[in-house]
Amino acid sequence: MRILVAGAGGLVGRAVKEHCLAQHDQTFSYTHETLDIADAASVRTTIEQVRPDAVINCAAWTDVDGCEIDSARAHAANANGPENLAKASRRCGAVFVTISTDYIFDGTKEGFYTQRDDPNPISVYGLSKLEGERRAQRALARTIAVRTGFVFGTGGRNFLSTVVERGQRGERLKTISDAWGTPTYAPHLAARLRELAERDLPGIFHVVNSGAGASYEEFALAALEAAGCDQANLETVTMRSLNRPAPRPSNSRLKCLLSEAIGLEPLPFWQEALAAFVASQKKADKAGIATQS
Ligand SMILES: NC(=O)c1ccc[n+]([C@@H]2O[C@H](COP(=O)([O-])OP(=O)(O)OC[C@H]3O[C@@H](n4cnc5c(N)ncnc54)[C@H](OP(=O)(O)O)[C@@H]3O)[C@@H](O)[C@H]2O)c1
Repeated sequence: MRILVAGAGGLVGRAVKEHCLAQHDQTFSYTHETLDIADAASVRTTIEQVRPDAVINCAAWTDVDGCEIDSARAHAANANGPENLAKASRRCGAVFVTISTDYIFDGTKEGFYTQRDDPNPISVYGLSKLEGERRAQRALARTIAVRTGFVFGTGGRNFLSTVVERGQRGERLKTISDAWGTPTYAPHLAARLRELAERDLPGIFHVVNSGAGASYEEFALAALEAAGCDQANLETVTMRSLNRPAPRPSNSRLKCLLSEAIGLEPLPFWQEALAAFVASQKKADKAGIATQS
């Protein structure tokens, strides 16, 4: 396939780019510097030049507290951005896959959120992402919106890489004990995004690793154990005690009603994904040492 990846400098974007290249797709990757998805004219020109079969949008302003303070910027990237990409995809006959978030839910439900649950975002970030899903769907019926959460992976700063790095240095860590989600390994998400683009079945999908989900605390403890680090360095805090500008849902675990119904394999359990992540971190560290010597 000819695939255009927007937001290719981010955690998920890098994984998508690597996966598409490994699948021998003709992959056209754009970072924030090379394509601002909030700029409708640039988006149109770029997509018209590339004429992809599929556009995969991994770009977003993901600073949840930043979004709370600068709502205009949040909406430009997270709502206008997907709409611009969907409109340009429509003009050149491409399928459009855009990533959304578990933060479109308010967190008051017990158990898993599925596509049957009404979104009710409690933060500007969540609201802007929901707006992005909806505007993209209105602009292009062929839109595939993929909601995910608790994403972890190699490269860049994310919750788990910070936990493992600091755990390996023996530093004390703080983690939240009262927020639950469904961990998702970026390479697994990347593979599913491409698979969905190939299937070309429009709609909303929830894509997360299998299992009952975890609190940040459980997730961090499992990561420290897998990395062979001392779990005693982990200190728990409550969400409220952090006093952050943006509220977060206390439960945002996701389950998909559609994936298995259309014959897609469930993604591996998050504990397996975590083991793969820790192994890849160790491999990267060893490669670093080998290069230095
Ligand atoms: N990470 C998670 O736990 C999580 C959970 C649920 C959903 N998601 C969703 O997953 C997707 C990928 O997130 P991620 O974890 O990979 O986040 P990320 O590492 O922050 O990557 C997002 C990328 O988008 C870029 N970007 C921001 N504004 C842009 C714009 N206007 N035009 C083009 N690029 C822009 C950023 O570049 P700069 O940094 O240079 O601005 C960054 O490289 C997003 O849609 C996010 O909402 C992530």
